[in-house]
Amino acid sequence: MNKKPWGGRFESATNKLVEAFNASVDFDKRLVLEDIDGSQAHVKMLGAVGILEESEVSEILKGLRKVLEEVEGGTFPWRVELEDVHMNVETRLKELIGATAGKLHTARSRNDQVALDFRLWVKKACIRAAQKLETLRAVMLSEAERNMGIVMPGYTHLQVAQPILVSHWFMAYFEMFSRDISRFYDAANRMNESPLGAGALAGTPWQIDRHQTALELGFAAPTRNSLDSVGSRDFALEYLSASAICMATLSRISEELILYSSFEFGFVTLPDSHTTGSSIMPQKKNPDVSELARGKAGRVFGDLMALLTVVKGTPLAYNKDFQEDKEPVFDAADTLEVILELYADMLPLCTWNAATTEIAAARGYSTATDLADYLARQGVPFREAHEVVGKLVGLCVKTNRQLWQLEETELKAAHEKLDARALEVVTVQSSVAARTSYGGTAPIRVQEAILEAKKRIQP
Ligand code: ARG
Repeated sequence: MNKKPWGGRFESATNKLVEAFNASVDFDKRLVLEDIDGSQAHVKMLGAVGILEESEVSEILKGLRKVLEEVEGGTFPWRVELEDVHMNVETRLKELIGATAGKLHTARSRNDQVALDFRLWVKKACIRAAQKLETLRAVMLSEAERNMGIVMPGYTHLQVAQPILVSHWFMAYFEMFSRDISRFYDAANRMNESPLGAGALAGTPWQIDRHQTALELGFAAPTRNSLDSVGSRDFALEYLSASAICMATLSRISEELILYSSFEFGFVTLPDSHTTGSSIMPQKKNPDVSELARGKAGRVFGDLMALLTVVKGTPLAYNKDFQEDKEPVFDAADTLEVILELYADMLPLCTWNAATTEIAAARGYSTATDLADYLARQGVPFREAHEVVGKLVGLCVKTNRQLWQLEETELKAAHEKLDARALEVVTVQSSVAARTSYGGTAPIRVQEAILEAKKRIQP
C-alpha cells in the first residue's frame, strides 16, 4: 500500500496531514521542464560512461519525452501523495515504460536533483529579469530623448532644489536599471555551475562524468564540492537580493510618478490605460500600477528576508528547510517581471506637461544657487555669497516676489558686486544650461549622456 519511491523501510502509511505538510508539488511543479532536462542529461551521461545500456538509455529518453508531452499537453497526472515534482515525474515514467525507469536515479539523489532543477530555473529567471530590464532601460532612453528640453524642479528633501531636465531624470533611472541588469547577469554567471552528481551530499561511487552533464545543461562547469552543491542556496539569495534592490528602485520611480501625477503637482499625465477610477468619486484617476509596484516592493523584500531566515540556521548539507526556498523566488519573479513589463508599456504613454513643470521649476527660489555662484565668480568667497543670497531670498519671501523681480538698488544694497546683470543667471533656462559639469543636467551634457548610453546598450 505504500507506493512511495522511498517506501522500502516503512511499514505503515504516512499520516495524511504529514503527507500534505510535506508535499511541495503544488508549487515545485514549476520546475518540471528543468527536472526533465536534468534527467535527460543524466541518463545520457549514464549511457556514455557505460553505467546503463544504450537500449535502457533510449527507453528512458523516450519515456521522458512522453512525460514532457503530457506536461505540455496539460494531461500529466500530478499527485500530491507523490510529494514533489521529482517523484511525480519518476513515478509517471515508471508507469509509462516499466521497471527500466528505476535505473534513471542511479548515481543521483533528490538532493542534487533539486539543487540542479532550481539552479536552472533561477538562472533563467536572472536572464529574464535582465532582459526585461533591458527593455525598460531602452524606454528610459527613448523617453529621455522624446522629452528633451523640458525643465522640471529637482528636489532634495522633497523641497525644491535646482531646476533639472526631465530627460536628466529619465537618465538617472537609466543608470539605476543598468546596475540592476548587471547584478542579474553577475548572479547568473556565479550560479553557472552544475551541482548534478554531488549525490546526496558526499559524491557517488559511480564513475560518472559531471563535466558532460554540466556542459549538456548549459553550465560552464560542475560545482567543486559536493556538500556545497546540495547545501547552498546563496544563488537564490542573490537572485532575491537583485530583485529586492530592483524593486526598491521601481518603488521610488512609482512614488515619484504618484506625486508628479497628483493634481497638486500636475507634472505628468498618466494614460487611461494604466490608471483606474473610483467607485464613488467621479473625478478620480488613480495611479494604481505605481501604487501596487510601490506596495509589492514590500513583498519582494519579504521574500528575500524569508529565504535568508530559512537558510541561516541550517547545518551542512541538505535540509528539508530548503524546500521553503522556492515559493519566495517564484513570488519575487512573478512580481518583478510583471512590474517591469507594466512600466515599459506605461512610460511611453505618459505625457509630461512642460508648461506646468517649467512654472514649478521656477518656484521656490530654485535658482538661488546660481546667484550665489555669480557672486562667487566675482571673487566673493562662496560662503559669504551664500549668506548674501540667503538674505535676498528672505526679502523676496517677505515681499512675495521672485529673485528676478529684485530692484537693482536692492541688489546693490545686498552686495557691492551685485547689479542687474546678475539677474540673467536666475532664469530657469540659464540655470539648467549652466550645469555643464560631467554628469550634470545641462542640455549638452544630457545629449551626450544619451548618445553614450545608446552606444552602451548596443548588443
Ligand atoms: N522537495 C524537496 C525540496 O524541494 C526535494 C528534495 C528532497 N530531498 C530529500 N532528501 N527529502 O527540497
